[in-house]
Amino acid sequence: MAGRESWRPHLGLVRAASVVLVLSVVAPGLLASKVVTFDSILIYTTHEWLPFKPNIYFHCQGENKTFLPDVKETNVLYSFKGQESWQPLTVLNEKKCKRCGLYEQDNFKNDDVFDEWELCPDDFVQGLYRHFKKNEFNATLRCTVDASSNDGSDQPSSTKDTSSHKHVHIILVVIICTLVSVAVIAAFVVAYRYWQKWKREKDQARFLKIFDENDEAEDEIQLSNAV
Ligand SMILES: *[C@@H]1O[C@H](CO)[C@@H](O)[C@H](O)[C@H]1NC(C)=O
Ligand SMILES: *[C@@H]1O[C@H](CO)[C@@H](O)[C@H](O)[C@H]1NC(C)=O
Repeated sequence: MAGRESWRPHLGLVRAASVVLVLSVVAPGLLASKVVTFDSILIYTTHEWLPFKPNIYFHCQGENKTFLPDVKETNVLYSFKGQESWQPLTVLNEKKCKRCGLYEQDNFKNDDVFDEWELCPDDFVQGLYRHFKKNEFNATLRCTVDASSNDGSDQPSSTKDTSSHKHVHIILVVIICTLVSVAVIAAFVVAYRYWQKWKREKDQARFLKIFDENDEAEDEIQLSNAV
């Protein structure tokens, strides 16, 4: 009995602590959105039959197409700063992949596909990800955590805005985490108190029952003696 009493509240505390731990690990991950840009691209071929310049675009499912206005020649390496008017390509959130690809617009039939693949936040090694497809293209994608922190040359006002936004986000998350953990701990304390009360009442009832039974037994003994 004493053993059960001592481990039950500990289990409650362990649960509360693990909830807080999980929240504090998951919450910052929700804030880190990764901005993806083209670092360089080289196409080996075009899919257009007619002697038109190709219209090449990058596209992730459910998003807008991003046309690469400069990429017109095959076997030429195009390098980008990441600040071009048409960048960035997309934003990756949390630990979620996106189905993206490189395509060539076709005026007469369906657009041609260079390649289509799952673009995942984990694929970027030191901020870079290389996607190569034989006879099609060789591209390097870059991923930065904040759009306005590519380098110091952007407008400082917008940098300030986004970073203060981020601070507000972090503060909000901290407050929410704290409130949730306080609520969880309070719930466990209340539950433990109820459990103690319930147990005490049950013990009392059992004690009274034993007492009654003893009384009845004594009565019976007295009765049988009298007979
Ligand atoms: C897609 O483009 C339209 C019009 O150019 C714009 O209003 C919309 O916000 C864009 N959507 C995304 C997800 O960028
Ligand atoms: C792809 O391009 C990168 C440079 O952008 C180069 O280092 C790499 O060797 C190329 N890969 C192939 C298969 O050509």
